[in-house]
Amino acid sequence: MGRIYDATWGRAFSALYDAGFKASEEAGLREMRRELLTGAGGRVVELGAGTGANLELYPDSISGLVLVEPDPHMTKRLREKLGASARQAEIAEAPAERLPFADASFDTAVVTLVLCTVPDPRAAIAELARVLKPGGRLLFIEHVRGEPGLARWQDRLERPWRFLGDGCHCNRDTLTTIEASAFEPSAVEHGKLPKALPLVEPLIRGSAVLGG
Ligand SMILES: C[S@@+](CC[C@H](N)C(=O)[O-])C[C@H]1O[C@@H](n2cnc3c(N)ncnc32)[C@H](O)[C@@H]1O
Repeated sequence: MGRIYDATWGRAFSALYDAGFKASEEAGLREMRRELLTGAGGRVVELGAGTGANLELYPDSISGLVLVEPDPHMTKRLREKLGASARQAEIAEAPAERLPFADASFDTAVVTLVLCTVPDPRAAIAELARVLKPGGRLLFIEHVRGEPGLARWQDRLERPWRFLGDGCHCNRDTLTTIEASAFEPSAVEHGKLPKALPLVEPLIRGSAVLGG
């Protein structure tokens, strides 16, 4: 968003993040995360891991976990949470659009509330298609563009919301972006982000499989 923004509101955003999402987590988001992550297997990469909201929810059966997070303020909190956890994971301070990993080196990729924020979601998904093995799974929970009446407001308020939301675009049609990629959605549920403002309420959650 810019250096002054990142050093001021960006820093505050990461400090307020967990408290800001507490009501949503308690009203169902945490259970949605847990249910989604039952689909994780093998070596897992999570993009935009933020403060580590998913960290404790992975099944013990996964063989490895790499958390990608480019924001230094978020990364600081992620490191603290990881340090206090029994979970073993690596942190990679890198943007989703340029992942520092070999081709076909992961089995599962996870994005939760991230494709709204990455500057180039198409490039991020293309990178996931590169680093996942053929047949690998993308697991997602994303807030998305709503039906036409709401979408008009999401378009009108996209800029101020992006400023408040540390780069979050409230009007992205993320499912269409996934469908246009090398991934094929296999199970998608449409719902609502619990206890959220209408602008960011429409939600998709599910999985997509990488074609071989
Ligand atoms: C709304 S937060 C979601 C955090 C976490 N995934 C969750 O479910 O609570 C969006 C996250 O995406 C990260 N992000 C922004 N741009 C990114 C990029 N280019 N690559 C990877 N992550 C990015 C932000 O730093 C932030 O941690």
